[in-house]
Amino acid sequence: MRFRHKSLIVLLLAALATTALANVEPLHAQHGIVVSIHELASKAGVEVMQAGGNAVDAAVATGFALAVVHSPAGNIGGGGFMLVRMADGKTHFIDYREKAPAAATREMFLDAQGNVIEGASEIGYKSIGVPGSVAGMVYAEQRYGKLTLKQVMAPAIRLAREGYALSWGEVQDLHDKHLSEFAESRRIFQRGGNYYRPGEIFRQPELARTLERIAAKPDDFYHGAMAREIAAAMKKGGGLITAEDLAQYEVKEREPVRGTYRGFEVISAPPPSSGGTVLIESLNIVEGYDLAKLGDRSAESIHFTTEAFRRAFFDRAEFMGDPDFAKIPVAQLIDKKYAEAWRETIHSENATASKDLKRPAIFSELEEYAAAHPQPVENHEAPHTTHYSVVDAEGNAAAVTTTINDWFGSRVTVDGLGFLMNDEMDDFSSKPGVPNLDGLIQGEANAIGPGKRPLSSMTPTIVVHGDKTLLVLGSPGSSKIITTVANVLMGVVDYGMNIQEAVDAPRFHNQWLPDVLNVEQWFSPDTVKRLQTMGYKVEFGLHDDESVVPYWSDAECIAIDAKTGERLGASDYRNSGKAVGY
Ligand code: GLY
Repeated sequence: MRFRHKSLIVLLLAALATTALANVEPLHAQHGIVVSIHELASKAGVEVMQAGGNAVDAAVATGFALAVVHSPAGNIGGGGFMLVRMADGKTHFIDYREKAPAAATREMFLDAQGNVIEGASEIGYKSIGVPGSVAGMVYAEQRYGKLTLKQVMAPAIRLAREGYALSWGEVQDLHDKHLSEFAESRRIFQRGGNYYRPGEIFRQPELARTLERIAAKPDDFYHGAMAREIAAAMKKGGGLITAEDLAQYEVKEREPVRGTYRGFEVISAPPPSSGGTVLIESLNIVEGYDLAKLGDRSAESIHFTTEAFRRAFFDRAEFMGDPDFAKIPVAQLIDKKYAEAWRETIHSENATASKDLKRPAIFSELEEYAAAHPQPVENHEAPHTTHYSVVDAEGNAAAVTTTINDWFGSRVTVDGLGFLMNDEMDDFSSKPGVPNLDGLIQGEANAIGPGKRPLSSMTPTIVVHGDKTLLVLGSPGSSKIITTVANVLMGVVDYGMNIQEAVDAPRFHNQWLPDVLNVEQWFSPDTVKRLQTMGYKVEFGLHDDESVVPYWSDAECIAIDAKTGERLGASDYRNSGKAVGY
């Protein structure tokens, strides 16, 4: 279900407003649990755990299943990040973000006058980055899973071949007007114009065959016949991706970023995601305030948290990009001393105007970098991603966020192979210095370059207490991903909520520019009035031209009860996801 269906939104808001405080218990499971945007995908993960698989097997099974039952964002034609924390404390961060093809150029989305060509980086063949999802999931399975690829892909293959009943919301989504622009997408997802109706079974035989081929010979996607088929389809459509680009794709294992927050360890996504760094920088700043005492979603606690977000996003814009192409000063940004210096710039009662922010000059690395680079630019980041969380019976955990960027990605379905390709090229800054749709600003570090990975906000996160996993967190939502994860984490740690309450609680968001404090529809007008007197420009919901989205993101999270060991699954009540456990 997506919040673009306005009539439904009105009904839902009425319903949610009255039920917001009811039914706030997470799902309790004794052994293993998966929480995702789709019940069938969560079930796929549980099925493989019950067959002897661990959390990584379940994560891979869920990922492939989402590529079948959640075509708008689940994928094999995109990329993602998987954060794994095994029960013995070992962590693995697997980066399978898309890469720009070798023929990509810095100016590829600019016209002859040097202006950004609207939509060019979002729809169609040129918007596609070299997909990493298949490589990443195969890598995870082969390195850290217990079962075979065939076993973990079996549920996805079955779902693609036998089909599943479409919900009302899924049917509405399939009416996407840009899908109709591509013959293969129109044929598969819109039945050539004879649109699917709610309850009809959606079968994807081409995708089933593709998944079977991957399960039998995973390397084929990058080095074999399938790579050649993908490259031929890209060439025919005017895209840049070649068989050589696919052959060059590589998964990267990276060190996750680590911080602490009020005695808990926070482990999260490193560059090329900005997520973990911005999350930990924000948390470091708010750690200096007694949020619990100020009160959950009181004007004061929102004020200090917003000022922290503002500063961390200011730094995001300047410094974040692909670490294989630029040195990203993560250590300085997540240093507690830096947070302390930032706190000194925060007024106790007034908002700081974003344009007046000045970075504290305590680290020469940050000063020198900022002086050497032009002002960052705003960039669009699509909010259409998906996150799922897994914990198995042994206590191994996986947090996975994956994306094809926009809803249905580039809208291009690869001829004969039945899967959609991403439009991740849009996550680069097309032109440093120019504002974009989502109002996000990004700097030189994220300019387009061949072989480069575009900057992401995906924030798969694991919170540890002592030596035990406590929380597995994540969400879609572009820049809102980071503030959503922060809101959920603070809900548990600062405000004593259970994980379901923390996931459901109203969210607020600031990303430096535009200088707006976005609050979901459920905020009290009194609180908003008080924030306005502090100098905030408050907007209910997210504003995009004339449309207003009243709420955002989709946190799919797990907590582990420290006393009982129970796995507590919380699927976001804003959407139609499901926690499934045993
Ligand atoms: N495309 C959304 C993200 O990577 O954050």
